[in-house]
Amino acid sequence: MTKTTLPDGFLWGGAVAAHQVEGAYNVGGKGLSVADVMTAAGNQEERRITAGVQPGEFYPNHEAVDFYHRYPADIKLLAEMGFTCFRTSIAWSRIFPQGDELEPNEAGLAFYDRLFDECLKYGIEPVVTLSHFEMPYHLVTQYGGFRSRQTITFFTRFARAVFTRFRDKVKYWLTFNEINNQTNYDRAFTLFTNSGIQVHAGENAEAVMYQAAHYEVVASSLAVQIGHSINPDFQIGAMVAFSPVYPASDQPRDVFKAQRAMQSRFWFSDVQVEGQYPTWLTRYFQAKHFDLDITQADLANLKRGTVDYLGFSYYMSFATQATDHEDDQFSYNEAHDLVTNRFVPQSEWGWQVDPQGLRYALNWMNDRYHLPLFIVENGIGAIDQLEADHTVHDQYRIDYLRDHIVQMKLAVLEDGVDVMGYTPWSAIDIVSASTGQLSKRYGFIYVDRNDDGSGSLARYRKDSFYWYQHVIATNGAEL
Ligand code: BG6
Repeated sequence: MTKTTLPDGFLWGGAVAAHQVEGAYNVGGKGLSVADVMTAAGNQEERRITAGVQPGEFYPNHEAVDFYHRYPADIKLLAEMGFTCFRTSIAWSRIFPQGDELEPNEAGLAFYDRLFDECLKYGIEPVVTLSHFEMPYHLVTQYGGFRSRQTITFFTRFARAVFTRFRDKVKYWLTFNEINNQTNYDRAFTLFTNSGIQVHAGENAEAVMYQAAHYEVVASSLAVQIGHSINPDFQIGAMVAFSPVYPASDQPRDVFKAQRAMQSRFWFSDVQVEGQYPTWLTRYFQAKHFDLDITQADLANLKRGTVDYLGFSYYMSFATQATDHEDDQFSYNEAHDLVTNRFVPQSEWGWQVDPQGLRYALNWMNDRYHLPLFIVENGIGAIDQLEADHTVHDQYRIDYLRDHIVQMKLAVLEDGVDVMGYTPWSAIDIVSASTGQLSKRYGFIYVDRNDDGSGSLARYRKDSFYWYQHVIATNGAEL
């Protein structure tokens, strides 16, 4: 019999990441992270990465929306919306300020104790990402980030420290946020935020990416094993950015190009879910003469440390087409190989809005992975207008989220996909990861802060706040 409602216990909430909300970048012993050395950019512009913190530069994450000091009031608002879960990350550099210490920083751990206690007080389940674009900057300058195998040790030490400390407070974990963003290895932002890597002139960025990503999937598999040994009830997931890549036409070449694009974007989850590399990719490494450091012990760990569920973000879909000069591999270079899909509209930031793609995503992953899926990000960045009476009429956000929830429900109720929960991006306005803007707003709660850092930091409920409150109250029945 077809079910008509989402299952009881479906997790409804919202998501943020530590570096995009907390601020307090040098408080409580916190060290610099990669997010602390990125400047603010404009619409569809890339942020600059500076060598450390430079005088005269503006770093929007340093203060962000001051969640570090305001979290009790903010969590209260999330509880008012009816959240049953809240996704955030633990800023790695609060716990290991430099990244390579042997012992964690107590003040950092104590902050997350307070934060998680505050969530649990309202019955809000924390969903915690270990690494969300927040590697300690010292690991970048001293070790080249995930260029170095040693960084696996630093990461697993961090994972062990927080798994141990929050053993009884956090059940749902994610290892690396959007680990597959670096498929776009020619974009400085993705390699820097995923892996703490800056590519030197003359280097093969693609090979550098595959090596770093290998160390990360190994680090993830070790973290899964450590986590399960600390608390067998932990649910530890992988996390990918799921933008499906459609073929631009029905030409077989385009269809194969799209398949290669999907393989290139999702081998990360293949490995984390299945515990082994897909055959095409091991052949690809040989064909490209990538001489990677992949040991037998690594391969054994990948098998032992497969994830319990798959979390993913969904914002948009992509499209691609083959060129006249494909090599035998139909090599996919995301910086060059995407085309505009004329059938879907774009946001102000050029993101292709495609609600049905979410149903496609859920079906694709369900067929491939046979694991519970968790939509841990979905949302639209838009300019909001704060009215004189402190209201915000963000009907476009409501429309976007409603259209996506409709498709999620079709996947669950009609297609039988096992979806654990839905945490739209973002619970509250944040600093945009890719542009550093505050004006690219995502939240249900408006924060009075501008791109240049001015503003009172006061919080106001948007129309979407009340709409989402009703969605949660009806378990998604009334949209
Ligand atoms: C995802 C990230 O890429 O999308 C978030 O996990 C990010 O950190 C979100 O904020 C939206 O992207 P952006 O670049 O508009 O902030």
